[in-house]
Amino acid sequence: MNLKDIINIENLPIHVAIIMDGNGRWAKKQGKNRTFGHQNGVKSVRETTEAAAELGIKYLTLYAFSTENWNRPKYEVDVLMKLLMKSINKETKTLNKNNIRLNAIGDLNSLPLASYKQLMKSIEDTSGNTRMTLTLALSYSSRWEIVDAVKKIADKIKTNDISAESIDQDMFSSFLRTNNMPDPELLIRTSGENRISNFLLWQIAYTELYFTDTLWPDFRKEDMYKALIDFQGRERRFGKTSEQINK
Ligand code: IPE
Ligand code: IPE
Ligand code: MG
Repeated sequence: MNLKDIINIENLPIHVAIIMDGNGRWAKKQGKNRTFGHQNGVKSVRETTEAAAELGIKYLTLYAFSTENWNRPKYEVDVLMKLLMKSINKETKTLNKNNIRLNAIGDLNSLPLASYKQLMKSIEDTSGNTRMTLTLALSYSSRWEIVDAVKKIADKIKTNDISAESIDQDMFSSFLRTNNMPDPELLIRTSGENRISNFLLWQIAYTELYFTDTLWPDFRKEDMYKALIDFQGRERRFGKTSEQINK
């Protein structure tokens, strides 16, 4: 039986987030440069996006470049930026064909200007699409996002647009870059690292975490199906007892 057939379409997560990790190690295993791994990770992005859209997942968020990744050797950062923009440019047509909207979260102003412009163009060109939102986390880190939200709220208090008393969880969430999407129900990390690396810290308060040893360039539709099947076997209790959930 095909793994895809085991998935219960009625119980899909609305939002899946992925920490795409292991490109460098994948390349090194073959005696190649780390950037070879990044190049081969593009196919995994394509497969995962396709799998998610075909199943009917509404939001897919991919961690593509962290704030901390700026500290990598300049050569690698340059190659990664070029590759990201080349891929976005090349895939925009396919996104439109498949009715997928592109979105980005992160400190986008810190991207090289040409990359920023390309990204904005693709976001604009796909803005009318409704089947799924594909969000790339670029120059993103969760602590940056949270501090950025706090600054915006502080500004609004200063100008009397909001009162400190009116701050609650929903309001705070509305100042995050993810304000127009639900929290992810499932977070996948590839490459065997069991950490979050500054990704969506606020948003994953009750997210199911799934770690796999598969390196990102090896990640295919079947790997996505496995993660979803694992997710569907879990009991999400949100602090309640199992008996309360199953009554
Ligand atoms: C993930 O792969 C891609 C990015 C972080 C941009 P890595 O480049 O981190 O690969 P490893 O973890 O060193 O193998
Ligand atoms: C996390 O991967 C960031 C992305 C996948 C873009 P890293 O490879 O940068 O994470 P750490 O530093 O090993 O935790
Ligand atoms: Mg890594």
